[in-house]
Amino acid sequence: MMIKKFLNNIPKNKKLVLELGIGDGNLIKSLSEKNHDCYFIGIEIQEDYFIKAKYNIKSQNVMLLNCSFEDVLPLFDDESIYKIISVLPDPKYIDKNYRHEWEIFYSIVYKKLLKKGLFILITEITDELFQPVSNNYFYKEVDNLKQVFQSIGFNILNDFEGYQENYMTSFLQIFNRDPKRIRIINFEFTKN
Ligand SMILES: C[S@@+](CC[C@H](N)C(=O)[O-])C[C@H]1O[C@@H](n2cnc3c(N)ncnc32)[C@H](O)[C@@H]1O
Repeated sequence: MMIKKFLNNIPKNKKLVLELGIGDGNLIKSLSEKNHDCYFIGIEIQEDYFIKAKYNIKSQNVMLLNCSFEDVLPLFDDESIYKIISVLPDPKYIDKNYRHEWEIFYSIVYKKLLKKGLFILITEITDELFQPVSNNYFYKEVDNLKQVFQSIGFNILNDFEGYQENYMTSFLQIFNRDPKRIRIINFEFTKN
């Protein structure tokens, strides 16, 4: 109920950007400082991260929520969000073993995006034994993910390996120390 009240305060004249699982909030901080035409909502379930983010972020165009994005996302109108960002989602939201659960969640992500809206997903590909990830394995996993997101309805605008400055986070900085065993795939999905 409280959260619903917060949502009434979203300015209507700005493009709405949602970040799921912001961690310490470094990404949403830098995006909100650079993009004044957007209004950012960052959602983080862990209180210690949320408090850290709240302390670090001073921009006026940001709202931070300490709750589960699974509870918040359904509250938005369909086709109301310009961009949704997820960087290094927990396994529960991307691992193939939990696919049947997370597929339902990403179909809600799809529903809430505006037509032509963007879903940025940056995730890691690791080997089950945590050995260096071969190209074969990497591209097979990437193809599997592409197929799932396409079956939800997303179009793939872009997919590429590595780190991009625009979407750098604290966890990505740590993962970057082990690029052979933790390979990073960036997806830019869109909705028709
Ligand atoms: C691997 S961390 C990545 C954090 C950040 N995106 C980064 O790259 O630095 C995943 C984050 O998602 C948060 N998280 C996991 N499930 C969540 C949920 N249902 N709702 C909100 N946050 C969640 C975790 O608490 C954690 O901070």
